[in-house]
Order: sequence, then structure tokens, then C-alpha cells
Amino acid sequence: MFESLERLPPDAIIGLIGEHLRDPRDTKVDLGIGVYRNEKGETPVLDVVKRAERRLLESQISKSYIGSAGPADFNEAMRDMTFAGSVGNERVAMLQTPGGSGSLSVAAGVALRAQAGLTLWASAPTWANHVPLLGGAGLQMKTFEYYDAGSHRLRLEAMLDSLRQIPRGDLVLLHACCHNPTGIDPNEEDWRAIVDVVIERELLPLVDMAYQGFATDLDADAFVIRHLAERVPEMIVCNSCSKNFGLYRDRVGALLIVAPDSATRDVIQSQANNLVRTMYSMPPDHGAAVVATILHDDALRADWHVELDEMRDRLRDMRLLLHDALGVTVPGRDFSHLARARGMFSFLGVSEEQVERLKKDHGVYMVGSSRINIAGITAGNVEHIAQSVAAVL
Ligand code: LMR
Repeated sequence: MFESLERLPPDAIIGLIGEHLRDPRDTKVDLGIGVYRNEKGETPVLDVVKRAERRLLESQISKSYIGSAGPADFNEAMRDMTFAGSVGNERVAMLQTPGGSGSLSVAAGVALRAQAGLTLWASAPTWANHVPLLGGAGLQMKTFEYYDAGSHRLRLEAMLDSLRQIPRGDLVLLHACCHNPTGIDPNEEDWRAIVDVVIERELLPLVDMAYQGFATDLDADAFVIRHLAERVPEMIVCNSCSKNFGLYRDRVGALLIVAPDSATRDVIQSQANNLVRTMYSMPPDHGAAVVATILHDDALRADWHVELDEMRDRLRDMRLLLHDALGVTVPGRDFSHLARARGMFSFLGVSEEQVERLKKDHGVYMVGSSRINIAGITAGNVEHIAQSVAAVL
């Protein structure tokens, strides 16, 4: 039977991990997949995670099943960190999911149970896996205007115009902060205008928050979610703890669905639990138990904020470092968007062919769209990156 299958190319982002690993050059640089790296180029386990794991090792008395929605203490902590009281708890259905991707899959499945053939509108561009993941789940995928690749700026008016064309009731996918792949976010005034259109058109917002704490801070980064939650009857939030807790491979995420009332919340919760049972039955627990331990302990939580601040500050510093280095090697070309953008990603703004040459000739790895992971930059490799970019331009 399996001979009928065709071999597929590696994933555009995950494939880069192997390519970079196999490269023998010691000057190679990985600006590919979105993982945080410190100044040594390492992705260490956060100190608070280690401490929470030690505590769990001592205190956990059972590995028995919990249920399809995962642990209540994790879900409640994620709900509070996301909404901060902007919506009544009785209106929020909650599930722990295997990462942000698991959250998106379950969100799509529940939405499609409510309305078969539903269309989701995503920004152009959006995370490379949004389209295969959400389209693969059965949503019809369309795009709205977002980014001006020439000026590397948000096209707010064009975005609002295209949102106004979306039929009532369709899903609209928004990135809460640290837009992936551009790093260009609406500001609070922009968000207010966007939310006005979402309400006017009666669109159903699905907000993907994979980088809470990586742009400004935990509260400011959730601005659009809380602004929406105070105004709309229904919305969906997909959270990831991969980046802000550094729990990438432990697969920790949350799905929060806001219903108009508690009776509808109960119906949604039952549907989501049932859907999960048919997909992976129950989420993995370890990472969620770590997050719950941190968020429910004042000392661990405070120390986590410090580690989160360090990651965010390093990303900002590396943006400025690359911006300044390119100012020297490529004078006359505007890279100001690198300094302006937030979070882990920016487009370098070079062609696919130049991306290929950066990889082959210089060992500098990035996604074909020229998206770079800012965390891959260090004081030790920035010169090599800037010289390499100058060489291919
Ligand atoms: C990325 O965009 O690089 C990250 O979100 C990791 C992933 O799964 O693609």
C-alpha cells in the first residue's frame, strides 16, 4: 500500500535544523528555527524550570491520567495570565494542549464542528506552518493585507480595508505580539482600529500568542486579547509556552475559547474534550506541571519574570547589533526595520537566491523567505553575518 506515497521535501523551517547540523564549517550560523539562544549560542533550560522540575520530582505522587483538558491549575494560571480578568471566568473553556500547534489544531477542529466549511483569514505573510496546519485541519484559508515588504512596515489602512471585505462570521487569525515572520506588530492605537472592524464585521477572532513577554512585557503583549475580550461575545486564543518558558520539546500550550455565556462555555468544553479524545486522547503533562508550579509560586514566578526579561533584552540588543553591523558592511541600504521590529523574527529583505548563497557560500542559515531568528546572533558572529550579507547583495 505505502508504495503509492510520494516522498515529500523536508519542512521549510524544521529541515534547516538538520542542514545546519551537517554543515562542518565552524563559522556556520543558525538563524533558522525560532528557538531562543543565549550569547553562547545555547538554548539552556531556564533556571526556574530546573527548580520547578526538582520540586515536582520530590512532590509528584502519581503519573495517572488527568483527562483530555489537562490539569486545572495549569489552565487557570494560563487563563489569568492571558485575560487578567478582562472576561468572566465562567465564559472561558480551557484546555492544555501539546504546544501552540496542538492548540491551533484543536481550535480549528472545534470551530469546524460549529460550522462546516468555515473560512479563516490570515495575515499576508503569516507563520509558514499556519496554512498547512489550519488548512490541513479543514479550514478554508484566505489572506488579508498586512505587511509592506518594501518599507518593512504594517499596511494598516490596507489591512483595515481588507478586513472590511471579509464575510460576517469568518475566522480572522491575529498574532498577539512578535508577528511571525515579520516582527512588525500593530501598536495599541492600530489594534483599537483593527478590533473596531472585527466587531463591525462580526468576525470571530482567533489570536495566536506564541511569544507573550517577548515584545514588551506579559501585560502589554496581551493588549489585543484583553481589548477584544472586553468587547466580543466569542473569541479563541491559542497560547504557547515553548518560547517564554523555553519548554519547546515538552510541548506545552493552552487553548482558551471565550463563549457568550457559561452554558455555551460548557457545550464548547464538552466538544473540545471529545475532539481531543479522538485526536491524542490527553495532552502530555510534564511541561504543564512545570508551568503550573512556576505560576502558582510567588518566588518562582518572580524569578521567571527576570529570566523572561533577560531573553527579551538580549533579543533587542542583538537587533541593534546586527542593524549597526550592516550599517558598516552595507552602507546606503536601509535596515532600520531590524531595530524597529520586536520579538524573534525579521525579514532580512534579500531574495531566495541570496538566501541560498548565504547558506552555501557563507554557512549562514535562514528560512527561504529571508526570515532570520534574531536569537541566533551573538557578539561573536555578527561580523560574519554582516560581511556575508554584504557579499551576496
Ligand atoms: C518558528 O517559526 O521557527 C517556530 O515557531 C518553530 C516552528 O515550529 O516553526
